[in-house]
This record gives sequence, C-alpha cells and structure tokens, in this order.
Amino acid sequence: MTDFMELVQTRRSIRKYEDREVSDEMLDKIFEAVRWTPSWANTQCWEIVAVRDPVQKKKLRETLPPKGNPAAAAVEKAPLVLAVCARSKISGYYKGEATTKFGDWFMFDLGLATENLCLAAHHLGLGTVIVGLFDHDRAAKVLMLPDDVEVAVLVPVGFAAKSPSAPKRRQIAEFVHQARF
Ligand SMILES: Cc1cc2nc3c(=O)[nH]c(=O)nc-3n(C[C@H](O)[C@H](O)[C@H](O)COP(=O)(O)O)c2cc1C
Repeated sequence: MTDFMELVQTRRSIRKYEDREVSDEMLDKIFEAVRWTPSWANTQCWEIVAVRDPVQKKKLRETLPPKGNPAAAAVEKAPLVLAVCARSKISGYYKGEATTKFGDWFMFDLGLATENLCLAAHHLGLGTVIVGLFDHDRAAKVLMLPDDVEVAVLVPVGFAAKSPSAPKRRQIAEFVHQARF
C-alpha cells in the first residue's frame, strides 16, 4: 500500500490481535518514522518504552479504569505495547521559560509522533490503537520513568485479528472556515 490518502483513510483503531510477534525489523521501521516527526524547534522530546513482557503488560492494563475502556484487553493481549513518553519542559520552552500561552508543547509533538507511528505500523500491515484513558502516574511507575518524563499514550501494536468499520467523520465543510470562523 503506497497511496497516502488510502493509508490515512484505511488506518483503524485495532483492539484484537493475532497471536503473532512483531519483528525487530518492523519495529525499527516504526521507530524510524517517529524519528522523522517534526517537533518544536526540532526538540524531539519523545521517549518510547517498548513493552513485550506479559507481566508488565498486565500491570499497564491495570492502570486503565476497570470498566469503560474498549482498549483494556488490547493493552494486555497485544504482542507489543509502545508507551509514548516525553521529556517535559523542552518543547515550547526557551531558556527554561514557556514561550506561548500553551506552556509545554509535548502533547502536540507526541501527537504528531504517534500518528507517524500508527501510520508506519499500518503501512507495514500492523494494527495499533492509541490509548489515552488510564492512570498516567501509575503507568509511569510501571514504566520506571524518571521524574521529568511523562507518559501520554500507550499504543498496543500487533497483527489485526479484527478490523472494525470506519467511525463516521465530520464533513470538510463542517470544520473548514473561509477567512472568518
Ligand atoms: C489521544 C487519543 C486517545 C485515545 N484513547 C483511547 C482509549 O483510551 N481507548 C480506546 O479504545 N481508544 C482510544 N482512542 C482511539 C479513538 O477512539 C479512535 O481513534 C477514534 O474512535 C476513531 O477511530 P479510528 O482510529 O478507527 O479511525 C484514542 C485516540 C486518540 C487520538
């Protein structure tokens, strides 16, 4: 699959996986896509923790609410979970001071990195789901993060066992404004 629009439109959140490992070669390609993500002043604040150990994956799952997150099983059952993290107070900062009203831009840079990650995985025939609803402080302990590193999302990765149909998107005319809002 090479067409960009097709790649973007056919990526789905995958929450069920085959019992098949993700090779290191594939993982390297995914990391290469993350590497080339644009970032604030090229600060590249991202840090990724790759988790394959079943015990650690179970502990990560336990950081999700017991009910109400459809990706809970994916965190435990995917062959691989990538924890997308960032060093704080780098992106959007100049000489230690936030330069805009938004403060730390790490969430923005990680969003871009995560989309590169998911699209690269999809291009390789792998499925992903971005998981944002969990206890971030608890997950940071499971991942043994230093104090200045935050985890933003967990991304289970694996070969899709089931691909859902595409959830509806807003029409372009609903979000594009000409000259004024
Ligand atoms: C920042 C972010 C956080 C998300 N968190 C979760 C989550 O905690 N659990 C989950 O099942 N899906 C989560 N998703 C996936 C969205 O529900 C999904 O992308 C959306 O419904 C559109 O479906 P699609 O990815 O198949 O196009 C998250 C997506 C994003 C971008």
